[in-house]
Amino acid sequence: MRVAMIGTGYVGLVSGACFADFGHDVTCVDKDKGKIAAIERGEMPIYEPGLTDLVAANRRAGRLKFTTDLPGAVKAADAVFIAVGTPSRRGDGHADLSFVYDAAREIAASLDGFTVIITKSTVPVGTGDEVERIIREARPDAQFAVVSNPEFLREGAAIRDFKLPDRIVVGSEDARAREVMTELYRPLYLNRSAILFTGRRTAELIKYAANAFLATKITFINEIADLAEKVGADVQEIARGIGLDNRIGSKFLHAGPGFGGSCFPKDTLALVKTGQDHGAPLRIVETVAAVNDARKRAMARKVLTALDGELRGKTVGVLGLTFKPNTDDMRDSPSLPLITALQDMGAKVRAFDPVGMEQAKPLLANVTFCDDAYACAEGASALVIVTEWEQFRALDFKRLKTIMVCPVLVDLRNIYRPEEVARYGFVYESVGRASVKAK
Ligand SMILES: NC(=O)c1ccc[n+]([C@@H]2O[C@H](COP(=O)([O-])OP(=O)(O)OC[C@H]3O[C@@H](n4cnc5c(N)ncnc54)[C@H](O)[C@@H]3O)[C@@H](O)[C@H]2O)c1
Repeated sequence: MRVAMIGTGYVGLVSGACFADFGHDVTCVDKDKGKIAAIERGEMPIYEPGLTDLVAANRRAGRLKFTTDLPGAVKAADAVFIAVGTPSRRGDGHADLSFVYDAAREIAASLDGFTVIITKSTVPVGTGDEVERIIREARPDAQFAVVSNPEFLREGAAIRDFKLPDRIVVGSEDARAREVMTELYRPLYLNRSAILFTGRRTAELIKYAANAFLATKITFINEIADLAEKVGADVQEIARGIGLDNRIGSKFLHAGPGFGGSCFPKDTLALVKTGQDHGAPLRIVETVAAVNDARKRAMARKVLTALDGELRGKTVGVLGLTFKPNTDDMRDSPSLPLITALQDMGAKVRAFDPVGMEQAKPLLANVTFCDDAYACAEGASALVIVTEWEQFRALDFKRLKTIMVCPVLVDLRNIYRPEEVARYGFVYESVGRASVKAK
């Protein structure tokens, strides 16, 4: 199949490379000339494990091309994916659909022969109808079908998720479009990944319902963590105790500094707006968004407590800036409000992230960026783990103690055992567990 992927960001680039790997003939389009030029030089615009090699192999095999020429790519394609961004609209939290609708207009102008247009971007229910209307208005003569095919990949494990999905959701009632979609995903279908055909609106809503549910699970355990701290219980054990129940499941029960990233914050907000617009308010999701928003900044209070209520003039080292490990994505990362709150309380902040520093620098003022975890801890009165990168899981506490002003560790990801850290003479604060004073 000939595929055009409009938008070569996290989703477009990974999906395009994986479809090419399945044997399809893929052209990834982006309007950002710099991005396309960089990819053609072999430089990936994002950090995603395995992506450089996957792109290189499929380019060498002649199945994967990159261009800024949208009309050329669309004309030649059987299937055109829209994988552009749908950020929160400034001011009201609705999804900003201007990139999707602009792409639809550009695609319409170049359609040639029956073409399936597939929305992979996360879009509110009813967007497919509007994409269809835009294209029909511009090209009453065109033969096309508009399909919703939301993407569920996770940054940091994107290639694996794309190639081994729990399910593929295809929203379309058009028989020809369903055939094209089955052909596109045939290798996965043969691999027994469930392919779920639904109506278009249902598919659009499945994506938001999935993200809102996972965000709710995270927020639930975070609130239980707060209670556990007050009553002397351990949230890690509570998570295990409830997660072993098959009806609940163990995933997304890790207490921490609140969810961030390019999807959950904006998607929960957009779903809330959709609910309000349709007179079906989603009170649980509204609360989840509000609780999570307040939580990120509130994490600074843990640092304050660990330093006996005084941060002014003290140095705090922050380990991990990206919203999760194995990505360089800084969108809505919990590190951002946390660092601002630390600075507001008068702290000087040093920071280190294994891959996210370049993305983080423009977003953070008055932060000293360091070359590694130990440089970050130099002269610090507290070290805060914000992102659970592998390399932070085996810190040399003896060394840290010699370079820090006082040995205080605030572990917002619960990656250490309290007794273990205390043995090295550290004050240790984590999430949903009793704080530990140095032994
Ligand atoms: N990032 C994720 O983990 C993830 C997972 C699932 C779904 N999604 C959804 O997928 C969509 C894309 O997300 P992303 O993170 O890949 O975004 P992104 O910002 O990384 O990439 C979007 C790309 O689209 C390009 N673009 C915009 N308009 C264009 C046009 N008219 N023609 C050509 N290129 C154009 C931009 O230049 C940019 O490179 C969003 O709706 C998002 O919610 C993202």
